[in-house]
Amino acid sequence: MIVPILKLGASELRKVSEPVTDFNGELEEIARNMIETMYGASGIGLAAPQIGINIRLVTIDPTVGEDKDKTIVICNPEIVTSEGRQSGQEGCLSIPNFSENVERPMKMVVQGRDLKGEGVRFEAEGILSRCFCHEIDHINGVLFIDHLSALKRTLIRNKIKKLAKAGEW
Ligand code: NI
Repeated sequence: MIVPILKLGASELRKVSEPVTDFNGELEEIARNMIETMYGASGIGLAAPQIGINIRLVTIDPTVGEDKDKTIVICNPEIVTSEGRQSGQEGCLSIPNFSENVERPMKMVVQGRDLKGEGVRFEAEGILSRCFCHEIDHINGVLFIDHLSALKRTLIRNKIKKLAKAGEW
């Protein structure tokens, strides 16, 4: 089921999310909704807080659904090691139509758990490394605009305030 994506201004986006501890229950359904919602919005990643659920669950697919077998679903992801730097444009489904240059590590190793609670480990490079960073930021209540200069952040906030006033946010 495609569910609404919260936008900047929603309090859930600013909370530190709770670790996943129950690997039964609704976890699989939440993940399925996240994947459908991510593809529905042509996104390459989504974190549970973006659909209003403050748990440490993220979905990632840099191919935007071209190879759905490779969709990554990870609970409680943690960066084990990271190296190098990359600079590139980054956007967010919760801050639509804005993108800015953000620096991220070029490579990283991430570990966490799958939907069954089994340990998983990914070696990520380039765009995948960027995705992991962005989504792990989300479950810590951090958004890409937090990595920008105060001036750039204020410019974006002011534009969004105008959009909100016009009922377009
Ligand atoms: Ni995002």
